[in-house]
Amino acid sequence: MDYAIEAKGLAQWYGRRERRAIDGIDLAVRPGELYGLVGPDGAGKTTTLRILSSVMHAREGTATVAGFDVRRDAEAVRRRIGYMPQAFSLYPDLTVRENLDFFADVNQVREDVRATRIAEMLAFSRLEEFQTRRAGNLSGGMKKKLALACALVHSPEVLILDEPSTGVDPVSRRELWQILAEVVHQGVAVLVSTPYMDEAERCHTVGMLYEGRMVASGAPGELTADLPFGIIEVKARPRKRMREIVSQTAGVGAWRPVGDRLRLSVARANDQVRQVLKSLEATLTAESLDTRLLRAVRPDMEDVFVHRVAQARAGA
Ligand SMILES: Nc1ncnc2c1ncn2[C@@H]1O[C@H](COP(=O)(O)OP(=O)(O)OP(=O)(O)O)[C@@H](O)[C@H]1O
Ligand SMILES: [Mg+2]
Repeated sequence: MDYAIEAKGLAQWYGRRERRAIDGIDLAVRPGELYGLVGPDGAGKTTTLRILSSVMHAREGTATVAGFDVRRDAEAVRRRIGYMPQAFSLYPDLTVRENLDFFADVNQVREDVRATRIAEMLAFSRLEEFQTRRAGNLSGGMKKKLALACALVHSPEVLILDEPSTGVDPVSRRELWQILAEVVHQGVAVLVSTPYMDEAERCHTVGMLYEGRMVASGAPGELTADLPFGIIEVKARPRKRMREIVSQTAGVGAWRPVGDRLRLSVARANDQVRQVLKSLEATLTAESLDTRLLRAVRPDMEDVFVHRVAQARAGA
């Protein structure tokens, strides 16, 4: 078995067949691979993950998870995966430990290993100190970590997480991703959805979903290398004049503000990035702007997403 998760041509609709929630989704995840399904609200992330968790059947397409067909062998799939739904179901009146115990019970964790496994999960999720606190009284980040621990308590081969980091403070967010990296390191195949483009950088493989279709997939480095343009960042004052100069500079494709700087995309062909840098530097100097920053930077996942969506729209 090469892939822990393999999906081909998945399609789903809830009402009219023409209004597809997802359409023609292919994806494959190996053991020990972290796959990020990235996309905005309504892109089809939850629909895809529900199908792969055997919670719901696809209208079209096939998928195997841990070697079993999600449609024919739903029971076998469910036993081998950990699934954390977007609106996850902890029991607020039970303590942290009782929740873990409950999930261990439901997932038939053997009596002789249960105590050890729960202790491991408490340590792993950094929740040892809070084991007697009721789940309902945990912070948002701690709830997510507990839900993750509950999804892992039966040592699944495959972990499917629907937006584990949404609504979580930055510190807990980083911690969650560290925990995921450890899980992956132990050989588990992890499929995680997120609306945050910057989190895609943490994944081995990224699948970008937009309006139910996969507009890009690959390693983050490959996706950025495939872009036909480079990115220049510029920060100068007065800002209004900086924007005017940027919009009048030949070779600048699109630009958008990010914080107090502008990110410009410039075609890679014919050494254009270097030429635009030179011409911007000359103009900013000639007009005596206070230039704080002017440099070429690596494109990010958001640049990839914006480009691929534009391409998909142009093709549609
Ligand atoms: N039960 C349902 N009934 C009708 N339409 C649905 C249902 N569930 C999802 N949809 C529609 O299917 C599309 C995909 O929804 P889905 O929940 O899979 O997206 P998502 O990427 O998970 O979004 P979010 O980031 O908001 O969780 C959306 O247009 C949504 O409105
Ligand atoms: Mg969702």
